[in-house]
Amino acid sequence: MKRFCLYLPLLLLIPFLTKAAPGDVHIAIETRQTALVIRVDKEQTPTIVHLGPKLRNAAEYASIPGNGKRGEDYTGIYNSAYTPAGSRNLLEPAIQVTHADGNPSLDLRYVRHETQNASDGVVLTKVYLKDPQYPFEVTLYYKAYQNEDVIEQWSSIRHTEKKAIVLQKYASANLYIPAQNYYLTHFHGDWANEMNPSEIPLTEGIKILDSKLGTRADLFQPPSFLVSLNQPADEDKGEVIAGTLAWSGNYQLAFEVDPLHNLRIIPGINPYASAYTLAPNTEFTTPAFLFTYSQQGTGGASRSLHRWARKHRIPQGQGNRLTLLNNWEATYFDFNEEKLSTLIKDGKKLGVDLFLLDDGWFGNKYPRNDDHTSLGDWQENAKKLPHGLGYLVKEAESAGIKFGIWLEPEMVSPKSELYEKHPDWVIKLPNRQEYYFRNQLVLDLSNPKVQDFVYEVVNGIMTKNPTLSYIKWDCNAVIYNAYSATNPNQSNLFVDYVQGLYKVVERLRTKYPTLPMMLCSGGGGRVDYGALRYFTEYWPSDNTDGLERVFIQWNYSYFFPSIASCNHVTDWGKQSIKFRTDVAMMGKIGYDIVVSKLTEPELQFSQQALKDYERIKPVIWQGDQFRLASPYTNDIASVLYVSEAKDKAMWFTYLVKNRYKAGSLAPIKLKGLDPDKNYTIQELNVYPGTKSAVNTSTATYSGNYLMTIGFNPQVSTRRESVVLEVNVVK
Ligand code: GLA
Repeated sequence: MKRFCLYLPLLLLIPFLTKAAPGDVHIAIETRQTALVIRVDKEQTPTIVHLGPKLRNAAEYASIPGNGKRGEDYTGIYNSAYTPAGSRNLLEPAIQVTHADGNPSLDLRYVRHETQNASDGVVLTKVYLKDPQYPFEVTLYYKAYQNEDVIEQWSSIRHTEKKAIVLQKYASANLYIPAQNYYLTHFHGDWANEMNPSEIPLTEGIKILDSKLGTRADLFQPPSFLVSLNQPADEDKGEVIAGTLAWSGNYQLAFEVDPLHNLRIIPGINPYASAYTLAPNTEFTTPAFLFTYSQQGTGGASRSLHRWARKHRIPQGQGNRLTLLNNWEATYFDFNEEKLSTLIKDGKKLGVDLFLLDDGWFGNKYPRNDDHTSLGDWQENAKKLPHGLGYLVKEAESAGIKFGIWLEPEMVSPKSELYEKHPDWVIKLPNRQEYYFRNQLVLDLSNPKVQDFVYEVVNGIMTKNPTLSYIKWDCNAVIYNAYSATNPNQSNLFVDYVQGLYKVVERLRTKYPTLPMMLCSGGGGRVDYGALRYFTEYWPSDNTDGLERVFIQWNYSYFFPSIASCNHVTDWGKQSIKFRTDVAMMGKIGYDIVVSKLTEPELQFSQQALKDYERIKPVIWQGDQFRLASPYTNDIASVLYVSEAKDKAMWFTYLVKNRYKAGSLAPIKLKGLDPDKNYTIQELNVYPGTKSAVNTSTATYSGNYLMTIGFNPQVSTRRESVVLEVNVVK
């Protein structure tokens, strides 16, 4: 009773929202299936009242209760559309500011909103907010991709205060979701061990995923996650939100279950060591947060993100890719023109489109013969390549393939001419001992002169070798001892670094719009949709063991489409070349092997596989992906790609456990086919000298049968990987 008396007067003062009042404004951000609804009350406070399936009648959004139910909200803004810190907020803020006069509070009230068609099938809504006491404004942007069911959200911040202000926190988005239970799947790992999933129930309080590595969002924890509502994530059923932050540097994803047991998701740049000084009349734009809401489990969420990425984000996402032979594992740093010319010819013999020259081709005062020197000195090493890159480009062209190179332009070796000439271009603390990641340091991309240098590294090589056809852009170090010799605001450095990087690649993309570029970072240290705006493909991991890759590629596939996944056949692991080739085909295939060491059947198998790949790659790259059997819960892993017209499918199944009798003991049900059409099933990648257990039959099956009863690819310890081509009977 005493408690009640204490709280009652307080409660009466609080303008909490239980339902809409007359005159409230509702802003519905809708895709084909999803709606995010913002309510603005008479105090002009914007709150989220719905994130989920779209209603048929938009007028009914006004009937949705505030805060998704379950009791009182002391502040009225637990469900704020962008929670400001320092006024009445009690929970994790989206934005926190110290004004020019030192005042640490912010209040954001709705001013107006506008909606426009940004492009075909893309609707952009802008919600303008303002602090009533300060000339400080925030605009919330929501891009709704109608057909792909993806929403891209970001914010921009500007002010006209008398002096600079400090942004302590500046999130990209602020979502609010009511459900009974929340299950978060996040991913973690390290070099050669990327993307391990963990699913945990979220309980009251905050779970943070983040990166403080500076140059990389990935490596330890990628900025991508799944939240399953009410029940643990299922591939086909249930409500799932798949989210990912488009930012290649320090990020923070906060998941807070609030006192009303509703989930708040606040993704953005990591506020760690990044209080950002913002001058008057300048605009700060946050990176975009991308999410999709699915009622068809994780499978539905992934297919939406894949479609979106191919159509709207990744350069040439609906175009072609080049198969390639890379020399890294064949030679490491030990090569010369003669060796490379032989490898180039071997690439042609194998049947790839391009030869990729990896690390080790540059540096003269300090030749790049191991990973301790030369980064920054991007001139051909005269001993290894006396006739320069141009000679190799020609060698490749006369052999009938294209030529590409490896670069790591953001980096500098302590032993390099670049470091000797420009010590002030290097990120390091003047009064601390240098500390290295892979024996190297990071260039200060917040410095415009360094940006110009990095741009010129690539532009110079391209100008000299206009037919050079591929860049593998690596980034092998994180930022230690963060300090810039030129940036006036040290705590802007982490943010300015990534923005500087994007400025450089943006300039390069403008000049070379169709140049294929691989995003690599000591394996999969940098796989995010911020960088994938500029890069055509990414390197998931240096771990190319066929079995390991089944798992690694499985997990990336929650967020990224197969066309962007560079999968190379190498000598890692114990699996047969057939197994490794089959796994590599589930994306963009490449090779990192010594072709001349292949046995005759291995070579014959690989040549045929590449020929078949040419025919089937459109289905793998552009089709809908169905993860049929998970390697985490089965003896096998099974993945299917179905063409949009449902007339063709490519089906990959692997043995992932070695127990007695392990294999596909029962038929596997296919998905995504047309139930009314009939299909044939043929095995591909049959190793020379072996017989297919499938190709003996000429049977046809209806889509209905294949999706209800299924088909057994007969994977066993004697058939560890099976590729099946499913074709409609015309
Ligand atoms: C990184 C990459 C590798 C290779 C080496 C070269 O580790 O992930 O593929 O390019 O650098 O040094």
